[in-house]
Amino acid sequence: MKVAIGSDHGGFSLKVVVVALLQKLGHDVDDVGCFDGESVDYPQFADNVCGKVSRGDAEKGILICGTGIGMSMAANKHGSIRAALCSEQYTARMSREHNDANILCMGERVTGAGVAEEIVRTWLGTPFAGGRHQRRVELFSSL
Ligand code: RB5
Repeated sequence: MKVAIGSDHGGFSLKVVVVALLQKLGHDVDDVGCFDGESVDYPQFADNVCGKVSRGDAEKGILICGTGIGMSMAANKHGSIRAALCSEQYTARMSREHNDANILCMGERVTGAGVAEEIVRTWLGTPFAGGRHQRRVELFSSL
C-alpha cells in the first residue's frame, strides 16, 4: 500500500520508527518530512500528506506531532480527510471499521514506540465495515 507520512519536530523520532516498520511490512512509503529535530510548523506537513491522500497519490496517511492533536485538527480541515488520533489499538481498529479513517495521527510525547507500532499494524490491517457506517461517513459531506 502507498502510505504518505509526515511529522513535525515533536514527532520526528517516532516517524523514524514508523517509517522503518512500514518498509519492513512492504509498504510504499512517501515520507514528506520533517527530516530532523529542527522546529517546524505541523500544519504544513499535515497539508502535504492530506493533499496526497485527497488526490489519490497515497491510499492512506500517517501524521505524527508531539501530541497528535495539532496534526489531527489540521488534517480534518480537508474535506475528504477523516483523521483519527489514536493512542491505543482499540481506537485504531474502530477508526477503520466504523469511521473509514484515511489518516492516522499519533503523538510521540503520548505514545511509546512499541504501542505505536501495534497501532500502525492494526490500523493498516483493518478494513472498513461499511453498511450503516457507510451512510454515517457519507453524512460528513453534508455538514
Ligand atoms: C510542538 O512543540 C507541538 O506543539 C506539536 O508537536 C504538537 O504537539 C501540536 O499539536
